[in-house]
Amino acid sequence: MKKTIRILALVFAAAITIGLFSACGSNDSGNQLVFGTNAEFPPFESVAADGVISSVDGTQKFDGIDMVIANKIGEKYGKTAVINNMEFDSLLVALKNGQIDACIAGMTITEERKESVDFSIPYYTATQVMIVKEDADIKKASDLEGKKISVVQGYTGETVVKELGFEYETFKKGTECILELVNGKCDAVVIDSATAEKYVADNEGLIIVKDAEAFESEEYGIAVAKGNTELLEQINAAIQEMLDDGTISSLAVQYTEEA
Ligand code: ARG
Repeated sequence: MKKTIRILALVFAAAITIGLFSACGSNDSGNQLVFGTNAEFPPFESVAADGVISSVDGTQKFDGIDMVIANKIGEKYGKTAVINNMEFDSLLVALKNGQIDACIAGMTITEERKESVDFSIPYYTATQVMIVKEDADIKKASDLEGKKISVVQGYTGETVVKELGFEYETFKKGTECILELVNGKCDAVVIDSATAEKYVADNEGLIIVKDAEAFESEEYGIAVAKGNTELLEQINAAIQEMLDDGTISSLAVQYTEEA
């Protein structure tokens, strides 16, 4: 009798253990790949009712080049890619805290950022440009001297303008900078090229001014927590594949034509 009880107890314990494990296995978060982004950066990421990827809690959807890339990375490794949408400035901290697995946000690979996170191979090349009013007398970066410049806080556009030694005002979103420009409260917005194209297409009377000498090219990469080589290698393999088979270049065409 005692033996039977002991066996029953063992079976019971085993059942609980298996139950616990299978509960973990079927738990969705185990099969999710959580990407952090700041969905204020078309054509790479924006909030969209008919978006291609959902927020972690399923309440929001997002669309854009990065969002398709995130989905494809998830697909390749049998995971569901989901988005944690947050302020751009919070992304690298969220990576460090383990709040997100990777960051895909049109993020430029910089030496400074490399000190706190690891970056994938580059997947897109961009440059800073100036957005000005059609009739502005700004033809090159040095014409920004003495002008009112708006940049987004924490973007490389801010770093570049700072390094050129110009005064500037920061805003939380690109659209806020554009509003300043449209309303005549500033003379120029310095921001990434593809996003600038989108804003110019959406707003009458604005043009893009380029200055390849003043603004060096930048490369976007996906960031992971420092030392997360397993995920980084997976991401790199997925990016390489999408670069090789033309997926990324056709996405770029598709999403910039929509602008
Ligand atoms: N490329 C710029 C940077 O890395 C701007 C990126 C903004 N991205 C965004 N999702 N809001 O600073």
